[in-house]
Amino acid sequence: MKPGDPAAVEQLFDAVAARYDQLNDRLSLGLHRQWKRRLVRSLHPQPGEFWLDLCCGTGDLALELARTVRPGGRVMGLDAAAEPLAVARKRQLRQPWLEVDWQQGDALRTGLASASADGVVMAYGLRNLADPAAGLGEIHRLLRPGGRAGVLDFNRLPADSPAAAFQRFYLRRLVVPTAAAVGLREEYAYLEKSLERFPDGAAQEELALAAGFRTARHHQLVAGQMGLLLLQR
Ligand SMILES: C[S@@+](CC[C@H](N)C(=O)[O-])C[C@H]1O[C@@H](n2cnc3c(N)ncnc32)[C@H](O)[C@@H]1O
Repeated sequence: MKPGDPAAVEQLFDAVAARYDQLNDRLSLGLHRQWKRRLVRSLHPQPGEFWLDLCCGTGDLALELARTVRPGGRVMGLDAAAEPLAVARKRQLRQPWLEVDWQQGDALRTGLASASADGVVMAYGLRNLADPAAGLGEIHRLLRPGGRAGVLDFNRLPADSPAAAFQRFYLRRLVVPTAAAVGLREEYAYLEKSLERFPDGAAQEELALAAGFRTARHHQLVAGQMGLLLLQR
C-alpha cells in the first residue's frame, strides 16, 4: 500500500479498527496510554475548553480530554474512517457523562471554523496524512491565538543510529509478526513504510514554524522511539 494515499489509509484503518486497541496494548505493552497521558498533561487542558482530537481513531485521546475539560468543556473527535469512529462511539456509551462529538472527515480539510479550538491533539495521525505540512497548517488555522497543540507519533531516527536499528527490529520482528498472527500483516508492514517519508523532529519544528506557530518543540520519548511535538499558536 502507498503511504499517504487517503483512500488506502481509510480502508486500512477500517480493516484494523476492531483489533486496533488490543494490538496497540500488546505491541506497546500498554505504554501508549502513558504517552497519550503525557501528551494531554503537557498541554494543560482546562475545564470549559473546546478541544479537537484529529485522526482520533477509536477515541483514546478524545475521551481522556473530555475527562479533563469537565465541567463545561467539549471535545470533538474527527477521523476519516467510519469503523474506528464506530468503536469510539461504543466506548463513549459506557461513559455517557463525557461530552464528545464524533465526526467523520478529513484532518486536512476539517471544514471547522478558524480559531475555534482552545487546543488540538493528533496521535499517530500526522504520519498518515498525504501532506503533513498541510496538516500542521490546518491545526494552526483551527486554534485560537494562544491555543496549544500536541502531535504524538513514532520518531524518525537517523538511519545508521542504534536507536533506528532497534526501531527496525521492533517493527519487523515484533509488530509485523504479531499483527500477522491476527491476519493484519500488510496493514502493519505499512507502519515502517510510512515512517520512511515522515519528517524528523527538527523538520517537524521547521514545518510548524513555517505554518505560523509561535513556538514548536519536538521531544523524544522512550529513548527516541517516539516523538512529541508541542506547539503554541
Ligand atoms: C494510527 S491511527 C491513530 C488513532 C488514534 N489517534 C490513536 O492514537 O490511537 C491513525 C488514524 O488516522 C486516521 N486518518 C488517517 N488519515 C486521515 C485524514 N486525512 N483525516 C482524518 N483521519 C485520518 C485513520 O483513519 C486512523 O484512524
